[in-house]
Amino acid sequence: MAENNKTTQKHPGGPRGFGPHGGSGLVEKPKHFWPTTKRLFGYMKKRWLAVSFVVVFAIGSAIFQAQTPKILGKATTQIYEGVLSGAAEIKAGMHISTLPMNWDKIISIVIEVIVLYILAAILSFAQQFIMTRVSQHTVFDLRRDLKNKMRNLPISYYDTHSNGDIMSRATNDMDNISSTLQQNLTQLITSIATFFSILWMMISISIPLTLWVLIIVPVSVVIIGIVAPRSQKYFSDQQRHLGLLNNQIEETYAGYTIVRAYNHEDKERQSFAAENDQIYKASWKAQFISGMIMPLMTFINNLGYIGIAILGGIKVANGKIPIGDIQAFLQYTDQFSQPISQITNLTNQIQSTIASAERIFQVLDEPEMKNNKQNLPVKKEKEIINFDHVQFGYNPNDELLMTDYNLPVKKGEIVAIVGPTGAGKTTMINLLERFY
Ligand SMILES: Nc1ncnc2c1ncn2[C@@H]1O[C@H](COP(=O)(O)OP(=O)(O)OP(=O)(O)O)[C@@H](O)[C@H]1O
Ligand SMILES: [Mg+2]
Repeated sequence: MAENNKTTQKHPGGPRGFGPHGGSGLVEKPKHFWPTTKRLFGYMKKRWLAVSFVVVFAIGSAIFQAQTPKILGKATTQIYEGVLSGAAEIKAGMHISTLPMNWDKIISIVIEVIVLYILAAILSFAQQFIMTRVSQHTVFDLRRDLKNKMRNLPISYYDTHSNGDIMSRATNDMDNISSTLQQNLTQLITSIATFFSILWMMISISIPLTLWVLIIVPVSVVIIGIVAPRSQKYFSDQQRHLGLLNNQIEETYAGYTIVRAYNHEDKERQSFAAENDQIYKASWKAQFISGMIMPLMTFINNLGYIGIAILGGIKVANGKIPIGDIQAFLQYTDQFSQPISQITNLTNQIQSTIASAERIFQVLDEPEMKNNKQNLPVKKEKEIINFDHVQFGYNPNDELLMTDYNLPVKKGEIVAIVGPTGAGKTTMINLLERFY
């Protein structure tokens, strides 16, 4: 039981997973999930062979891994039977110095397990190795396309999007995609394969026991579903108040001389205390509620454990199931929730990645600048610049900024452009430089 608790705490789906960053409530949702996913996968189409190897290896690795508890259970059964027959021999009055173990069998079981572990490790390594190359190549292509696109975007795009926004798409979003392709995609495949392998192994041992596990697991999923969103709200409150407090501190110290000069210390102290109090309230609620998830899950898992121990014990006593199978089954029960919580966590990560991909594809879909790169011949005439009945507006929907603008400029002439702010001086230069 103690070991069960230990492994439960390692589960990635525990409260830590529901923290301010891993929580489902704060994840940015893509607008068009499936079309964007399809398009992102389109970037991997060239490497479909490598990707299919990755999938096969991941599934193979999960299957091998899932075999081992059952095989190890056979060793337990062997030892158990050895002890039993030894006890029977002693009872019959025989004098024995060692228990009659079938060591050959036990050693061959151990070797079989080692071989399976090694195979699983090799497949898992190969899968990671291939996926690293595939994901990096994919992001390489995506980055190249984005860069090419950015070269052809009209100036108006850069006028209407902040540098920070463009930078964030080119770096953060790209990074997000690269790490998800690299890790989360194989994790997802592995988790799904592990889920079904374990389920299959459990069914192969005992259908009633499997049904019992299948009742218990959804209960804990439902509990998390009820508790986690509540803590989620407080986690986002906590983040929001932390932001406000940071602002407050920043303002107070950046403008410290002003605060002093206007005798605002007390007021600052009060507003700090108020924010601090808000953080305290939101934080302890968030921590308390999310802290409840773990004990609740452990409790339910333990209930599952007890059920299997009792049901399994009865079956063993009746000779319906070898004891090693029950040992294996307990291990499977323990491992069963891992892929489930992993998949739950991954869905958040994958959603945020698809949102990132969507932002990058948005840039790639922007209309490009009309090709006006051809050099106009330099005229030898007297007028070298001539605005001739120019009509212009920045937005097609807005009113025109220039309706009938005329300005001939002769060679050597110096022209001063004067006007109130917003009159269109910069616009004129923009047009001259053919930015628009
Ligand atoms: N990239 C843009 N997209 C849409 N509208 C714009 C853009 N740049 C300027 N405008 C609008 O066009 C008008 C003319 O702006 P412009 O910058 O040419 O004025 P300006 O004469 O250079 O003013 P200032 O003296 O303040 O520099 C303003 O109403 C401005 O809001
Ligand atoms: Mg200007």
